[in-house]
Amino acid sequence: MSDQVGFVTMAGAKAEGTAPEIGVGMLGYAFMGKAHSNAYKKIPYMIYPPPAVPVLVAIGGRNEEAVSEAAKRYGYATYYTDWREMIKDDRIQLFDNGAPNHLHADPCIAAAKVGKHILCEKPLARTAKEAAMMLEAATKAGVKHMTAFNYRFVPAVRQARHLIESGALGELYHFRAVYLQEWITDPDFGMIWRLDKDQAGSGALGDLGAHIIDLARFLVGEPRRVSAAAQTFIKQRPAAQGEGLEEVTVDDAFVAALEFENGAIGSVEASRFCPGRKNGMVFEVNGSKGSIQFSLERLNELEVFWKGEAPKETQGFHNVMVSESYHPFWSHWWPQGHIIGWEHTFVHEITHLLDAIVNDNPVSPYGADFEDGYKNAVICDAILKSAQTGRRIDVTY
Ligand SMILES: NC(=O)c1ccc[n+]([C@@H]2O[C@H](COP(=O)([O-])OP(=O)(O)OC[C@H]3O[C@@H](n4cnc5c(N)ncnc54)[C@H](O)[C@@H]3O)[C@@H](O)[C@H]2O)c1
Repeated sequence: MSDQVGFVTMAGAKAEGTAPEIGVGMLGYAFMGKAHSNAYKKIPYMIYPPPAVPVLVAIGGRNEEAVSEAAKRYGYATYYTDWREMIKDDRIQLFDNGAPNHLHADPCIAAAKVGKHILCEKPLARTAKEAAMMLEAATKAGVKHMTAFNYRFVPAVRQARHLIESGALGELYHFRAVYLQEWITDPDFGMIWRLDKDQAGSGALGDLGAHIIDLARFLVGEPRRVSAAAQTFIKQRPAAQGEGLEEVTVDDAFVAALEFENGAIGSVEASRFCPGRKNGMVFEVNGSKGSIQFSLERLNELEVFWKGEAPKETQGFHNVMVSESYHPFWSHWWPQGHIIGWEHTFVHEITHLLDAIVNDNPVSPYGADFEDGYKNAVICDAILKSAQTGRRIDVTY
């Protein structure tokens, strides 16, 4: 891609031929349903030419009034109140699962069996056992499968991966990540599916921790052992419906130490009990030649430090605006410095999957497939087991 992109080449891309169409069936119309639908709509004109043009065939939910409204709002041709009916729709080639975690396995396995490609939100499943069944079904069906670890698709995060891959950081010593939010600190905040083990699998671990565990694997490599502590601060909350209190059955926060196969060590911590922290995901990688730091709330930037850089009087962490044409994904966007946002990670992620489907390219290693989702679930299980037993737990896939 030309270095000139930006002020001189806006709208310069030319399409040759016609992109194929791929019919999409989206399960869930709330947070992720909205984020994914937004991406499907942007892809045909922002990623130009697109690998495929997503056609919004159907959206699914339980409540007919709400799901029909969502279909109208996001531009889906139709809606379903039962995912079993949705996956029978022949117009759908890509099944996108943005439902709560307990509804990942059955619909994804059923969709794989009828030959649909699958995008499933993270965590892939509530347990490693459930994730393994999903991986097996998708592999057996020969469909493309992706776990929606969208932070792999932040340009600065992909740039960090390229720097590490090229050896720029030298030998890797440390990975350190936190993912901190504040939104359930209030004890009057009532029960939701995210606080119920049967529906969510785990709490801060699967919700936030899964993202930074994925980044640990993406950037540094496989953890071989974990040791962890977890805590539930508020053990009962106002019932979702009716009077009374319900048990919170997941972790409110966890912290874990990771020992990597390559000799690096790391820590991951997540909580939704951090007043003032909105979407505070920060990671740092330290190696023999330098360090990289990233903060999600400043996602267009990377902080880098290179050992021995001259002149020594100005040595220190540098702030790099990751928005040049030669930075990952940036040729699709704006002139340098005209920054992009969180929602655009989904544009990159789904484009990657469409390319994999149309051109038979692999989803991994730059995207996360169901194998990555399964390995992530193994690590999450090991963290919970360590927190429960007080022992260090080996990670075995
Ligand atoms: N990648 C990310 O950054 C990210 C961010 C948030 C959530 N997530 C993941 O996305 C998934 C959904 O989370 P969310 O925040 O969108 O949740 P949400 O509660 O906002 O939305 C869930 C959707 O699923 C629908 N739903 C619930 N039960 C259903 C059923 N029985 N049948 C059909 N539809 C049903 C709801 O109506 C709603 O539309 C979860 O797995 C979550 O972990 C990922």
